[in-house]
Amino acid sequence: MDIPWWRDAVVYEIYVRSFADASGDGVGDLAGVRQRLPYLSRLGVDAIWLTPFYPSPMADGGYDVADYRGVDPLFGTLDDFEALVAEAHSHGIRVLVDIVPNHSSSMHPWFRAALAGQGRDRYVFRDRPNNWQSTFGGPAWTQVADGQWYLHLFAPEQPDFNWRNREVHEEFLDVLRFWLERGVDGFRIDVAMGLYKADGLPDVGDQSFKALSPVWGQPEVHEVYREWRKLLDTFPGERMAVGEVWTDSAADLALYVRPDELHQSFNFAWLQAPWSATAFRKVIDDTLGAVPFATWVLSNHDVVRHRTRYDTADPGTGLARAKAALLVMLALPGSAYLYQGEELGLPEVKDLPPEARQDPIFFQSEGKLAGRDGCRVPIPWSGDAAPYGFSPDGVAPWLPQPRTFKELSVTAQTGDSDSTLEFYRGALARRRELVRSIPYELTWLEAPEGALFFARGPLTCVINCGTDPVRLPPHDQVLLSSAALTGDVLPPDTAAWLRTTE
Ligand code: NOJ
Repeated sequence: MDIPWWRDAVVYEIYVRSFADASGDGVGDLAGVRQRLPYLSRLGVDAIWLTPFYPSPMADGGYDVADYRGVDPLFGTLDDFEALVAEAHSHGIRVLVDIVPNHSSSMHPWFRAALAGQGRDRYVFRDRPNNWQSTFGGPAWTQVADGQWYLHLFAPEQPDFNWRNREVHEEFLDVLRFWLERGVDGFRIDVAMGLYKADGLPDVGDQSFKALSPVWGQPEVHEVYREWRKLLDTFPGERMAVGEVWTDSAADLALYVRPDELHQSFNFAWLQAPWSATAFRKVIDDTLGAVPFATWVLSNHDVVRHRTRYDTADPGTGLARAKAALLVMLALPGSAYLYQGEELGLPEVKDLPPEARQDPIFFQSEGKLAGRDGCRVPIPWSGDAAPYGFSPDGVAPWLPQPRTFKELSVTAQTGDSDSTLEFYRGALARRRELVRSIPYELTWLEAPEGALFFARGPLTCVINCGTDPVRLPPHDQVLLSSAALTGDVLPPDTAAWLRTTE
């Protein structure tokens, strides 16, 4: 079988508003991404995933889409998008775009019409609400002028579509076609376990992201992905789709990646695992046992950056653990999704002033929850002071950058062999050399307590999650390590790649 490009791809998530601002309005844009393609090419990623850049009132950073076939002037034009795709392809970088099918913006023409009494059946309107809560806090229902209520599993500005209406299916098939015709290589599907709700909308007890609950993971949703897969398969060039699926088990995740459905699904169990060899091994075994094509992700624009997560659990360990976890993730079978800025070792920015915050979670929780702005702070590219090359000098970025970004900028780290950025570049280059020549399958090797050793052909990956140093297994050469090694000893919070003769 030919190996599809996405099986082992390293995909880099670009949260567009925080990546690079070419227009000088303090917000990242498509032209900014285009200018930084040489950086991404040198970093060594295979593909980029662009978060929503469609026309949007930005109630949820663009995940409230008012027009699924356009580009918001904040981010540029359709011509900018087409130029970006063409230039990314000339660098050998594929492009995935985000599709938001669970809900639209309340400013979408369909919802405006629904409020005026036309086509309400495209959304979920009822005479009485049930007890469902919004994922962002507060009730999941809002009442409209004539007394009816509409469902929004996220912000009130994000009304949920009614996928039991065939018109919604046709609309999204057409939206996918629109972007496929513009050359995209695939889609990241927002809230992929959403879309359908249980018939009758019964009240619920526990509403966490579960594979099967009246709120999420209805069996009918799989028919949607079967339709989408058929459409993707009619286009040349191995177009693909990856689902944002939050579930409690790898078995539930596997339902979304059956051969006639999505190609991949994010594996959030890896991101949620504590720093423990036992926990890591369980996630790896569960995942590889359940899905044909695995994915791994440590950070994205919705979670606390992993450097800070590890540091919070055990102060002082964050960066070392983040680098070690990366080496393991890049050695595992499957594809790896990176989040912009992790290659710089960016921490979560915890002290954003309340007046700067923009995440609806902050507002819907009345300031009780900080929300996700701390992982969305614009990238430091260069310079000694804000905006650190993100925007032209003198322009304030949409979220303030801390002073600690100075040492973490791309220019500050480039050429410094001890930097996180050069470590990422080295690891991605090594992976590229190796990944197609080693077997997909992984074999566990015996390891001391607190450590994991696994092999894929001549590559052995080792990680020490314990508190004592461990001895490396027999090997010919150390290919890479996340911290300096002395002799054959692997210190705590360190991982390495070894070459062995089979
Ligand atoms: C998941 C997205 O990643 C997140 O940023 C967004 O708020 C929700 N889906 C709702 O669209």
